[in-house]
Amino acid sequence: MLPQSVFYRALMLGSFLCLLHGSLAEVGKLVCFYDAASFVREGPAQLSLVELEPALNFCNFLVYGYAGIDAESHKIKSLDPELSYNRQHYRQITALRQRFPHVRFLLSVGGNRDLSAEGVADSSKYLSLLEQPEHRSAFRASVGAELSNYGFDGLDLAWQFPANRPKLQQGVLKRAWSAVRGWFSTDSVDSKSQEHKEQFATLVRELRRDLQPSGKLLTLSMLPHVDAELFIDVASVLDHVDFVNLGTYDFHTPERDPKVGDLPAPLYAMYDRDPTHNVQYQVQYWLNQTSPSRADQLHIGVTSYGRSWNMTRNSGITGYPPIPAAAGAAPAGKQTRIPGLLSWPEICELLQQQPEDKEAPHLRKVGDPTKRFGIYAYRSADDIGENGLWVGYEDPTTAAIKAGFAQAQGLGGVAFHDVSLDDFRGQCAGEKYPILRSIKYRL
Ligand SMILES: *[C@@H]1O[C@H](CO)[C@@H](O)[C@H](O)[C@H]1NC(C)=O
Ligand SMILES: *[C@@H]1O[C@H](CO)[C@@H](O)[C@H](O)[C@H]1NC(C)=O
Repeated sequence: MLPQSVFYRALMLGSFLCLLHGSLAEVGKLVCFYDAASFVREGPAQLSLVELEPALNFCNFLVYGYAGIDAESHKIKSLDPELSYNRQHYRQITALRQRFPHVRFLLSVGGNRDLSAEGVADSSKYLSLLEQPEHRSAFRASVGAELSNYGFDGLDLAWQFPANRPKLQQGVLKRAWSAVRGWFSTDSVDSKSQEHKEQFATLVRELRRDLQPSGKLLTLSMLPHVDAELFIDVASVLDHVDFVNLGTYDFHTPERDPKVGDLPAPLYAMYDRDPTHNVQYQVQYWLNQTSPSRADQLHIGVTSYGRSWNMTRNSGITGYPPIPAAAGAAPAGKQTRIPGLLSWPEICELLQQQPEDKEAPHLRKVGDPTKRFGIYAYRSADDIGENGLWVGYEDPTTAAIKAGFAQAQGLGGVAFHDVSLDDFRGQCAGEKYPILRSIKYRL
C-alpha cells in the first residue's frame, strides 16, 4: 500500500508542477496587434504613443503591423513612408520596453497591407520569394538586420498567401452550403500550392535557425481566408515557430460578401452556413494536424471592431441574419473612416444614441444568449429605403467568451486585432481598452 501511495503522490506532484509550469509559461497569453497606421490617422482615431501605453499593461506581445517586402530585392521593407523616415517609429515602439519590460515586441510582415500598384494585397511576391533559395537568403539577411537595428524581439510572418475566393451566394438561405465539402477543395487559388507549402516550411526552418542563436522569436499569423491545408505544413511549422495566431475572424465581410450581411466571426458552426466559417472548425483543423501538447502554441484571433452593411428595404425588419439584399459596406465611421468597419467606440456610441434622435436613429442591439454565434445591432431601412445599417461585432462580453473558449480548449491564448480599434480613450464607459481588459481577465 505504502509504496503505491508514495508513487501516487509523486505522480500528483508531477502533474501539479506540469500544470503550474503550463499556466505560467504557456497559456493565457495575450498577443496584441498594433496597427502602426493608427499613429498617423487623421482625427480622433489617431492613437498616440502615450495613449498606447495603458494597453501594454495587458499584453504579453505587441505585434507591430506591418512591414512589407520589396519585389526586386526580396528584402523586408517599411510600408509607411511617413513613419519609416529613418524608421523612427520602430524605435519609439521598441523603446516602450523600458517601461514595460514584460512585453515582447514583434515586427510583422505582410498582413494584407503590402499592396500592389493596383491597391490589392499582393501575394505574388510572397510566393516568388519562397521559390528561390537566393530570394529566401536575401530576405533572411534583411530580417536579421532589421530586428537587431530597431530592437525587435522577433519576427511575425503574416504571410500573404492567396486567399480563397468568396463563394457565390445566389439566395440567402442557400441549402447548397451543406453540400459544400471543403473550403477550397474544388477551386484552388494556386496551382503550385504543394511546392509553396514545402518552400514556406523551409523558410520557417531557415529563419528559426537564423534567429534562435540571438534568442529572437519567430511566429506565424494566418490571415483570414488563407487555407492552411493548401499552404501550411502544420507539423513542421509548429516545430519551428513559437506560436501561431489563427485567422479566426472576418469570415464574413462586406468586401467579400457585399449582398449578404452576416455574423463575421461565429464561435461555432451556424445552420446553413459554410461549415468552415467559425472559430471552432479552424481550431479543430489545426489540432487535428498535431499532437495535443501543441495546443498551447495556438491562439485565436478576436477583434475590437465590427463589420457593417447597408440594409435596404428588401432586407426586412427583423435584423435576423443572414441579411438578404444588403447594399455593400455601410458608410465609414466618424473616427476610423473605413467603409464597412466600425470600431468598438464607434459602435458603442451608436448604441447609446437616443431613439428619438432623428439625425442618426439609434441601433437596436440583439444579444446571443447561446454564447455560440455572436451579437449584432441594426436599424432597418426607412420608408425611402435609406439609413439601414447592420453590424456584427464583439463587445467586452463576447470577447471574454472567446477567451474562455481558448482556455477551455487548452490553447495558448488570444491574438487581439487590434489595440487601435478598442476604446483607448474610454469614451464609451470611462474605462480605457475595455475589450482588451475583458479578454485579459478571462484568460
Ligand atoms: C478532425 O478529425 C476528426 C476525426 O478524424 C474529424 O471527424 C473532423 O472532421 C476533423 N476536423 C477538422 C476540422 O479537420
Ligand atoms: C450605404 O448607404 C449610404 C446611405 O445610407 C449610401 O451613402 C452609400 O452609398 C451606401 N453604400 C453602398 C455600397 O451602397
